Amino acid sequence: MTIKNVSVIGGGTMGNGIAHIFALSGYKVTLIETKQEFADKALTTITKNLNRMVAKEKITEEAKEGGLANISTSLDIRDGVSGADLVIEAVPEDLGIKTSVWKAVDEAAPSHAVLGSNTSSISITKLAALTSRPQQFIGMHFFNPVPVMRLVEIVRGLETTDEVYTAIEETAKALKKVPVPVNDMPGFVSNRVLMPMINEAIFAVYEGVATPDHVDQVMKLGMAHPMGPLRLADFIGLDVCLDILNVLHEGFKDPKYRPCPLLVKMVDAGKLGNKTGEGFYSY
Ligand code: CAA
Repeated sequence: MTIKNVSVIGGGTMGNGIAHIFALSGYKVTLIETKQEFADKALTTITKNLNRMVAKEKITEEAKEGGLANISTSLDIRDGVSGADLVIEAVPEDLGIKTSVWKAVDEAAPSHAVLGSNTSSISITKLAALTSRPQQFIGMHFFNPVPVMRLVEIVRGLETTDEVYTAIEETAKALKKVPVPVNDMPGFVSNRVLMPMINEAIFAVYEGVATPDHVDQVMKLGMAHPMGPLRLADFIGLDVCLDILNVLHEGFKDPKYRPCPLLVKMVDAGKLGNKTGEGFYSY
């Protein structure tokens, strides 16, 4: 199974990072967006992040230019996946959106294509069942910022074949990432462990135990986390955190995953973290 052409659906925070690392590693990337302005914004972000890597002498100017030359954009999902060996979907964590995306991909992608989702918590088996080829479906879960974080959680659905698993494991290594295999359960491993910690940090604020800054100082200085849990929640997006906690809560039917009412209220108020300029902190 040879992977050369990769279609990335969605150019948001995760999608542009995924396109960035594939292009820099020599893959031909088609970045698929719904509007030209979103595609342009993704390319601007990729260029900015590549320039940052040049400035830090992590890559050369030629490598940057080569990476950028490997990326083309498409506003038509069917057209954009028609030559793909691997499709990676990085659209919002909304089952309705993901359903229409995967139906379209299934109609238009070549029969040999591996279908991968960057979902952070939706069941891979459920997404795979939206297509006529669940054996070729797999979770390829990257972490933000994608060019920096070394982990790729590789999630096997119920029917994922060993051949597809191995191809994706090799691909992750070719991207200089570390693949870690996990089975398909709510939140996989990453968010099953991370989100309860973030939720508990929010409860600590909600119950008046400490301010956001003091909660974060405890975790940064006492546990050597690079960011405190509330700064990290803002960075991930409070809406995304809430969605993932809801998936855990509904998936396990266990009250220990109940989202903190303060998190629900902040999302209702549109305070979603870095992307809206306000969350537990102002930006
Ligand atoms: N592209 C390329 N390089 C980038 C980058 C980007 N988008 N963002 C940061 N960098 C690089 C910087 O150039 C810098 O490189 P050097 O070490 O060579 O100087 C390095 O990353 C660190 O960046 P900064 O010095 O600007 O800032 P920092 O030291 O505060 O680190 C951070 C920033 C890497 C984000 C760090 O705070 C961190 O690791 N935070 C935790 C991030 C995390 O937990 N991510 C996972 C979130 S969960 C998720 O994504 C999945 C999910 O399902 C919810």
